[in-house]
Amino acid sequence: MQNDKASHTAYTVLQGVVHTGSQRRTEWLVSADKMSACLDILNSSDEGRRRLRQLRNPIISAGLMVMQRLLMPGIALHYVTRKKVIEDVVRANIAQGAGQVVNIGAGFDTLTYELSRDHVDLTCIELDHPATATQKRQAFVTDAPGNLHLHPVDLSKTAISDALAQIPVFDPAVRTCFICEGVLMYLDPCDVERVFAALRHVTSGGMQFVFTAVPRMDSPNINVTWLLKRYLHRLGEPLGWTIEKSDIEEFLAAQGYDLDMSVDGHDMRRKYLSRLSGGPFHLGEFVVSCAPMQKG
Ligand SMILES: C[S@@+](CC[C@H](N)C(=O)[O-])C[C@H]1O[C@@H](n2cnc3c(N)ncnc32)[C@H](O)[C@@H]1O
Repeated sequence: MQNDKASHTAYTVLQGVVHTGSQRRTEWLVSADKMSACLDILNSSDEGRRRLRQLRNPIISAGLMVMQRLLMPGIALHYVTRKKVIEDVVRANIAQGAGQVVNIGAGFDTLTYELSRDHVDLTCIELDHPATATQKRQAFVTDAPGNLHLHPVDLSKTAISDALAQIPVFDPAVRTCFICEGVLMYLDPCDVERVFAALRHVTSGGMQFVFTAVPRMDSPNINVTWLLKRYLHRLGEPLGWTIEKSDIEEFLAAQGYDLDMSVDGHDMRRKYLSRLSGGPFHLGEFVVSCAPMQKG
């Protein structure tokens, strides 16, 4: 992660969502509202506009598709479907009474923006590295809903619990849904354990935690290519924490959490992509939803 620049991987995820929402074959997977928010974010920075030009140039766009095939086949479609899984979990949680949503390492994801417009009483908080959070603020400078709070923080220097304690609107007594999408795999295993420990204690009103995880690059359950490892190192965002889906329940139990649900690429394809006839789709990163174990 470079300190002065918005996250490359956050831009790449956003670019993948816009690409998916722009293709006739897959445009139905990205709502008009989401697409509009994504375009607002891309249009608000030089790097974003550069990424947009890439998508709109047929030659560069085709080149990007070739690169995707070489690195992580079907990853753009994966970004969109994992976001759907997370959105389903979070909206269900709100329906069950969650009054706060906190997205940790939100990047350029638009879910809390959409939720804050749909639920005016919901407190939506994003934590992200200052370079990325500041960039995102510029995108929503004129029309950020009052219940959406983008909080810049370097989580390698500040603990999540301290960061949340500094946010006046964060209410520890309110049932909270935490999201950590596409982030934990960049942390060291001991930092990941610290995240789980911190989140168990920051609310007294109950919580749900939805996050994504990836298996090791040499796992038979992942279809990335060896080129990807070199690419991630070049970006300065190498993988730190990996885990198999089959090990997640045991890992969570050791952190004091019960597993509610884990959804891998096969599940996502079945649930969201049955209209598509084949084509590459990323297998590896999976979505997990969990809650602290009940005492007694
Ligand atoms: C791969 S992006 C994922 C973005 C978003 N969650 C998504 O899936 O669309 C990783 C995110 O983690 C954030 N991040 C990385 N290191 C961080 C740190 N030390 N403190 C706060 N955020 C960090 C980056 O800024 C980036 O937004």
